[in-house]
Amino acid sequence: MKISVIGAGNVGATCAQALAQRDFVNEVVLLDIKEGIAEGKALDMCQRAPIDGYSTMVKGVTNNYEATENSAVVIITSGIPRKPGMSRDDLISTNAKIVKSVTEASVAASPDAKIIVVANPLDVMTYTAFLAAKKKPNEVMGMAGILDISRYKAFIGMELGVSVKEIQALLLGGHGDTMVPLPRFTSVAGIPVTSLIDESRLTAIVERTKKGGGELVKLMGTSAWYAPGTAAAQMAEAIVKNENRIFPVAAWLTGEYGQNDVFLGVPVQLGKNGIEKIVEVKLNDDEQALLNTSSEHVKAVMKVLDDMAIFS
Ligand code: LAC
Repeated sequence: MKISVIGAGNVGATCAQALAQRDFVNEVVLLDIKEGIAEGKALDMCQRAPIDGYSTMVKGVTNNYEATENSAVVIITSGIPRKPGMSRDDLISTNAKIVKSVTEASVAASPDAKIIVVANPLDVMTYTAFLAAKKKPNEVMGMAGILDISRYKAFIGMELGVSVKEIQALLLGGHGDTMVPLPRFTSVAGIPVTSLIDESRLTAIVERTKKGGGELVKLMGTSAWYAPGTAAAQMAEAIVKNENRIFPVAAWLTGEYGQNDVFLGVPVQLGKNGIEKIVEVKLNDDEQALLNTSSEHVKAVMKVLDDMAIFS
C-alpha cells in the first residue's frame, strides 16, 4: 500500500514524516519539482526510521509521477504559502494552476486514489482538484477542519491547563477567518466548555482560532507546517485503515447544512471510500448564519477561480 505526497515543502515533508512514523503503509512517495529536495528529505526520513522504529519506506522523486502509481491516497500540498500581510485568497492565481496540473498528473498515475488537498485557499483549491480529478465527490476532500479544530483545542487546553486529549469539539465552515468554531458542541472530558470558561474568554479563544494561521505567518514569515502536515496524515490514515473516524474536512455539499455546490468544512466519517458520510447536526440560527457567511465567502473565491477560466 502506497501513499503519495505531492510537494516536499514544509507541509509536504511533515506530512510524509507523520505518515512514515504512523507505520501503516509500506511506502510513502514524496514528489517535488525541485531536483533533489524530495530525494534528500526522503532519505533523511529513512535514516530516522531506525531511531523511531518504523518500517515505512520513504521514496523521494523529482516530478516522476510514475513513482506514485497506484497510490491509495494522494495528498496535494504543492503551491506557494502565505507571506505576512497576505490572505489565503491572495494565493489563488498561482496555486490554482499548480493544483490543477499536479492533480491531473496524480490521477493519471493513480486513478483509484482518494485525493486530499492541503494547498490554499483551501476550500477553492479542493474545488480545483475536484474539477481536475473528475472523480466522485466523496473521493476528493480538503484538509482544514482537523487543523483548525486542533488549534481551537490547543487554546482551550492552554486556557484550562488540561491535557488536549480530554477536549472534543466541532468546527464548521471555510478555512479562513470566517470559519465557525462551535462552543455549544465543545466539551472537556464530557463537561460543556461553556461551564468551564466564561463567555468573554471563550469568544477570545474562538477569535484566536479563526486567525490561528495568520498568527503563525506573522511570527514565522511563512505559514505553518507541523499541525497542517500531521492533520493531512491523520486523514489518510483514517481512509487507508477504514477507521470511520469523524473529522471536519472540506467536503462537496449538495444541500447539507443548507449549502449547495460548495466545498466547505463539515464533520464527515472517513473510511475506505473516502467520505463515507457527511454528518449533519442541527445548528441554531446564529450558528447557521455564521456558516452561511463562510459559505458565501468561499463562493466569492470560487468565482475568482471561474473567472480564471483554467478549465475552459
Ligand atoms: C494554516 C495554513 C496552512 O492555517 O492555511 O496554517
